[in-house]
Amino acid sequence: MKVSVVGSINMDMTVVAERIPLKGETVHGSEIHHIPGGKGANQAVAMAKLGAQVEMFGCVGDDETGKNLLENLKSVGVETSHIMVVENIPTGIAFITVGEDDNAIVVVPGANGMVDKAYVDRIRGPLLESDIVLLQQEIPMETVEYVVDLCARHQVKVVLNPAPAVPLKKETIEKATYLTPNEHEAAILFGTELSTEELLKRYPGKLLITQGSKGVSACLEDGTVVLVPARKAHVVDTTGAGDTLNGAFTLRIAMGADLKSALEYANVAASLSTERFGAQGGMPTDGEVRKAMEGR
Ligand code: RIB
Ligand code: NA
Repeated sequence: MKVSVVGSINMDMTVVAERIPLKGETVHGSEIHHIPGGKGANQAVAMAKLGAQVEMFGCVGDDETGKNLLENLKSVGVETSHIMVVENIPTGIAFITVGEDDNAIVVVPGANGMVDKAYVDRIRGPLLESDIVLLQQEIPMETVEYVVDLCARHQVKVVLNPAPAVPLKKETIEKATYLTPNEHEAAILFGTELSTEELLKRYPGKLLITQGSKGVSACLEDGTVVLVPARKAHVVDTTGAGDTLNGAFTLRIAMGADLKSALEYANVAASLSTERFGAQGGMPTDGEVRKAMEGR
C-alpha cells in the first residue's frame, strides 16, 4: 500500500507568547524555535510515524533550510526522491505565535509556489501508483484542482484538507473523495446559512468537519450524523493537530477502515499530538494511538 501527499514543506519559526497579540499590540514572548512544518510535510510525517509507506511530493528551495527539511522527512522514513529542489526561491516559512491554547500563523510560500501543473505532470507516474492522495491548500490552487481531477480520472481516492480555506469550485468538491475543513474553513467553503448538521447531510460519506476540542463530525453513508468526541488532552501546542488528524484519517481509509472508525482513530492521534510542542512533535505511533484508545 502506498499513500502520498502533495503539498507544502515549511520551516516553522515559532514563538511562544503569553497570548496572541491583538491588532497593533505588542506582547512578550519567551522562546523562539525553528522546527519542521508545512501542512503537507506534517501530514506525511503523521502517516509515516503511524507506520505508512508514504511519499511526499512538493518543492523546497536550494538552501540550508530546504536541506534540513528534506533530512527531517527522510529521518522518519518519508520517501522524498521526487521532491523538487528549486533554485533562487527560498524554502517556505511559517511564522507561528503559540498562545496559551491557540496559535496564529502567517505562511510565506516561497518554493511551495513552484508546485505547479508542470511539476504534477512530471510526478504523475509515481503519484498515480498511490492508493490514496492527501492534499492541502498551501500550494497554488490550480495545482490542487489539477491533482484532484487527475486522481478522480484514475480512480485514486483523494482527501482534500481545504486549509487554508478559499472558496472551492463545485467540481473540485464533487471529485474529492473526502473533504476535511474545520468549522471556520467550512464557513468559507459553504457559507453559514446551513447548520453543521444540515451541511453534513448534503455530503454523506464525503464531508467531515473538525471542531477542535469538541471532536469531529460527519454524516455517514447511511445518513446518520455523528460527532466523534475528542479525547481529553494535556495541551501544550495545538499546531499541527489538524494535520495529524488528516494524516491518520487518510491512512485508516487507505487501509479499508470505515468512516466512523477512521475518525475515532484520527481523533485520538490528533489529541496525542497536541501534548508535545511543535507541529510534528507528539505525532504518535500506531501503538500509542491504540493504547490511548483502550485507555478511555
Ligand atoms: O498546520 C500547521 C502548519 O501550518 C504549520 O506547520 C505551518 O508550517 C503552517 O503551514
Ligand atoms: Na504537537
